[in-house]
Amino acid sequence: MSLLIQNGEIVTASERFVGDVLCEGETISRVGRNLDPGDAEVIDATGKYVFPGFIDPHTHIYLPFMGTFAKDTYVTASKAALVGGTTCFIDFCIPDRDEDPLSAFETWNSKSEGQSACDFTYHMAVTRFDDAAEKSLRRIVQEEGISSFKVFLAYKGALGVTDDELYQTLRLAKELGVITTAHCENADLVLELQKSLLAEGKTEPRWHHESRPPRVEAAGTSHLMTFAELLGAHVYVVHLSCREALDEAMRAKERGVNAWIETLIQYLLLDKSHAELPDFEGAKYVMSPPLRDASNQDVLWGALRNRFVSTLATDHAPFDFEAQKRAMGKDDFTLIPNGIPALEDRVNLLFTHGVKTGRIDLHTFVDCASTQAAKIFGLYPRKGTIQPGADADLVVYDPDYSGTISASTHHINTDYSAFEGWTIGGRPHVVTVRGEVAARDGQFVGTVGRGKRLSREPNHF
Ligand code: URP
Ligand code: ZN
Ligand code: ZN
Repeated sequence: MSLLIQNGEIVTASERFVGDVLCEGETISRVGRNLDPGDAEVIDATGKYVFPGFIDPHTHIYLPFMGTFAKDTYVTASKAALVGGTTCFIDFCIPDRDEDPLSAFETWNSKSEGQSACDFTYHMAVTRFDDAAEKSLRRIVQEEGISSFKVFLAYKGALGVTDDELYQTLRLAKELGVITTAHCENADLVLELQKSLLAEGKTEPRWHHESRPPRVEAAGTSHLMTFAELLGAHVYVVHLSCREALDEAMRAKERGVNAWIETLIQYLLLDKSHAELPDFEGAKYVMSPPLRDASNQDVLWGALRNRFVSTLATDHAPFDFEAQKRAMGKDDFTLIPNGIPALEDRVNLLFTHGVKTGRIDLHTFVDCASTQAAKIFGLYPRKGTIQPGADADLVVYDPDYSGTISASTHHINTDYSAFEGWTIGGRPHVVTVRGEVAARDGQFVGTVGRGKRLSREPNHF
């Protein structure tokens, strides 16, 4: 089957011109002007942008966490992703501390196999490091096409690693040519601050921020950088939220540490006043690191514009408000399942509040929401750009659309949206996955199960 996307404004991280994209089978075969359609299905992209499929490098679809499970499945999440222009996501495979990494890998495969409508891969979390774990991790990298690790410097006693384990993980990652992604917060400080807040009777969602202030994140970030520097390992800071942590990461980058930074759409647009909403509404906005003082938003937008921050993700961690956040955390903010779902809305919100306001240009938009994730995690140029030979994952984007985000219409499987009532000024008109139309004007029209788990090679830097 062939598809010709005609007369659109093609935008990649570095180029912009009006032209056509011909897709034959699953890949892009030609990019040019006035291409002959032959017997291809023609999509008229006049007045629209044509972007490479967007990539969310940080999602939690299957996630046992804090005594419950995230609400999406690979079916619901991939539909939500595609409707919102995301054609590929990177999920996290997270073993229990006492579980063999290969057994967790099989569990994640059993949840994803035949379920996703778009392509995906996993970061492999290291939650315990010993000889047995090392053996399995080697197999996962060398035989299963996974080329990134994840460590949690937070969540002490659950998913978090010790310093010894952090050291051994980075040593192995360096040897195997794997990049290590890291949740950077000082776990001991979080635990002590949580205890003292609860002891003072401070149980509401608003205290979540006070238990994980910016210095706690900065300390975690600096810690990771010290280890990465001494080991010469490649590291990627997930969900960086504030100036203090950015300063630590930038100082390390200036010293020559191989570090990349991710921020989230939530940190660019929401702030800690959301988590202070009355009647427990604030719990909808509880995630870690917490939403920050609004003064951080300009700092993060600036860092995105200057490309100090490489990627814009969601950390999509979907929990229901009533049955999960409220039921579990009503008497104790430390028990509120952490996470703010945003997979469906990331691209439209970034376009509306980034491109349309002039905070970032179109190339930065594509770069941070697609190309950099592909480059950093070994998917480029198969994903993340528009060129012959690349997968035909494309987004024909309507910049003139105007609409409203609501849980009543979203495809995410939660009972609330953190962006309820927000307007968007643009949305995907057509989204393709390897040459097949998978979403049209807010509707999923693709094929559940067509999505592939992608194989990624280590040593791609
Ligand atoms: O609040 C968050 N971020 N929830 C998901 C788990 C994590 O830390 O990434
Ligand atoms: Zn995290
Ligand atoms: Zn996460």
